[in-house]
Amino acid sequence: MIVTAAELFKVAYGRFAVGAYNINNMEQTHGLFRGAIQSQSPFVIQISRGARKYADKRMLEAMIRAAETIYPDAVFVVHLDHGDEATCYDCIDSGFYSSVMIDASHEPFEKNVEITRRVVERAHAKGVSVEAELGMLGGVEEDIKVEDGHACLTDPDQAKEFVQLTGCDSLACAIGTSHGAYKFKGRQSIHFDVLEKIQQRLPGFPLVMHGSSSVPQSEIMRINAAGGKLDPSACGVNDDEYLPAAKLGVTKINIDTDGRLVWTRVHREYFRDHPEDFDFRGPGRVFMTEYANFIASRSEKLGSKNTLSEVRAAILEQRKNKAA
Ligand code: G3H
Ligand code: 13P
Ligand code: ZN
Repeated sequence: MIVTAAELFKVAYGRFAVGAYNINNMEQTHGLFRGAIQSQSPFVIQISRGARKYADKRMLEAMIRAAETIYPDAVFVVHLDHGDEATCYDCIDSGFYSSVMIDASHEPFEKNVEITRRVVERAHAKGVSVEAELGMLGGVEEDIKVEDGHACLTDPDQAKEFVQLTGCDSLACAIGTSHGAYKFKGRQSIHFDVLEKIQQRLPGFPLVMHGSSSVPQSEIMRINAAGGKLDPSACGVNDDEYLPAAKLGVTKINIDTDGRLVWTRVHREYFRDHPEDFDFRGPGRVFMTEYANFIASRSEKLGSKNTLSEVRAAILEQRKNKAA
């Protein structure tokens, strides 16, 4: 069942966070749906502009629609990750996406408001939810690289003003995390003080945490032991901090890099251990199982495990009340 982010976040707010996972191919899609069902958890499946270019947006839509019939119990949001204005409109008009992110966070405040406001109008007319971003995370996202030192944390007072002016449904905040496998540069960690201030100014309003992969050292070591050359200084978010962040209003936690690490580890180890093999289905099967287990482990850390039937019932109730 495809739901909007607004519907799902109403149920999750203050209790648990929903994992948002980027997909680019069939193996990730199967692994994600399986892991979510295994852990009885709702989720956000998110598609970046890069993924739409890589796989073709029609291929991704067809794959997700197929997954919906293969895994009929799944409850999920179909979301555009880090969209620009034109891609947001394409997704809104497609009738397939139930949520889009307009990322104009690199623009000055007024321009960010102006662009976001336009996207909100178009999206809400079609019942699509909108995530916007204020503040700047470090690291690389799509074609924009934010150098260390240029990243800036979200200003809590501006966050309130931004939400009031734009009418967005959720807000991605910069609270110390960054995209990719090299976060924090030795400094810890999520800025809970900033998060708390944002929540005080926007009580009940869903917040989003990007750059939330945990980058397990064990994955880095296994990848390097199997021929990889990842910098051992790789570092991620402490996954025991997901739930405390959720209690402070973070309802969506974005995880992409960790899935790439699982993929890389599985494929490097597989071909190291089966040097005579050249059938991609061997490592593909292992990856789908490992990725499903990884997703299930995230559901536990996010607090979303075993919430599926309650979430489905609550959203059906919301829809009934809205129709009445
Ligand atoms: O924030 C970026 C996400 O990790 C998606 O990455 O643009 O390489 O698909 P991508
Ligand atoms: P990670 O790079 O930490 O997985 O973050 C992904 C993300 O924020 C996608 O929007
Ligand atoms: Zn992101």
